[in-house]
Amino acid sequence: MNAPQRRVGRYDLVTPMLPCKDEIVGKFEKLLLSGRYILADEVRLLEEELAAACGVADCVGVASGSSALFVALAMAGVRPGDEVITTPYTFDATMEAIILLDAVPVFVDIKPTDLNIDPARIEDAITPRTRAIMPVPIFGAPCDMDAINEIAARRGLEVVMDNAQAFGTVYRGRQISSCGRMATLSFYPTKNLPGIGDGGAVCCRDKADADLIRRLRAHQVVRANGHLYTGWNSRLDEVQAMVIRVRLARFAEEQRDRDQVAAIYDSHIPAECRVQLDDGGRAMRMTYHQYWVRCHDREGLRRVLDAAGVDVGIYYDPPLHRHELAVYCRAAGDLPVAERAGREILALPIHAALPFAEAHRIGELVHGFISGQAAGA
Ligand SMILES: Cc1ncc(COP(=O)(O)O)c(C=O)c1O
Repeated sequence: MNAPQRRVGRYDLVTPMLPCKDEIVGKFEKLLLSGRYILADEVRLLEEELAAACGVADCVGVASGSSALFVALAMAGVRPGDEVITTPYTFDATMEAIILLDAVPVFVDIKPTDLNIDPARIEDAITPRTRAIMPVPIFGAPCDMDAINEIAARRGLEVVMDNAQAFGTVYRGRQISSCGRMATLSFYPTKNLPGIGDGGAVCCRDKADADLIRRLRAHQVVRANGHLYTGWNSRLDEVQAMVIRVRLARFAEEQRDRDQVAAIYDSHIPAECRVQLDDGGRAMRMTYHQYWVRCHDREGLRRVLDAAGVDVGIYYDPPLHRHELAVYCRAAGDLPVAERAGREILALPIHAALPFAEAHRIGELVHGFISGQAAGA
């Protein structure tokens, strides 16, 4: 009898930590004995390193990616009753931050190729209440920022990006986090640049925005956009910043491993069933927060992979305009592409610790299932 197969998990949070374990433990001990636990050197250095890595003037560490969205939208001037145009095909936090500001998320359909907001549909969704556009480079695939920024500039709107899944993503040769007025990051442990708890940051093209967010995150009152804002506690702590800095130093190496896994999947999976970047991907870089496959019989494919010991992810089913909180939102017309993505998209394991042989095995299973379907059609 064959030995039971070890399952391939969606994520492996521990193995990529092993090469830096001693460094982290050593730094932790130093931190512990320093007594400087809040807003000290690690946060300051991380902010400098992130600003350099993202090509922005400044970057502010905050408590989470969700918190980052809230402060960024507030400082971009989103006020109660305003509308923020965004994608329905994203994690709940994108919509929650808008709703918590008493503003209205307005959902615009996505493109089937990269699952990002379709710029061709944005203009029709603009009303006199529209204040901002919030693109979300989903799974790390770059959004079409030139088209989005052109519309925003012409219509007098702010661009605040939710880049929780897109640290390291490159759009037309530039870090995508430099492509909006502000861009938020998340260091949730499953993200490509992870902490060992919660954490987030706001990348700011304009230093003045960063100065205001630094005040807000630490209980200071802020006057901006003709309003008075209360501060509160949205601090990133030193332990998280220390771990994130260690992982940031290894990011390029880990990304190379993810790229190699993606290239193996690409070699097995037909192009029309996976991400296709604008511009043929020439000056683009996708960071593969997720590697997705589109399959009409997603449940059938999930069962095959499950039987082979492979865990998969289902995203975002249903999309946000079908969420309970949709009563606080507006859908700009029908959203058939997002609905179809919600039914058909399945995410394969992709992380720096995935053995290449496993990636080949998974790719072959997916290829076998999809070609079997095509033959039976
Ligand atoms: C697209 C998106 N936006 C926002 C968030 C929120 O980040 P956090 O969990 O750090 O609050 C996440 C992830 O969790 C996300 O995937």
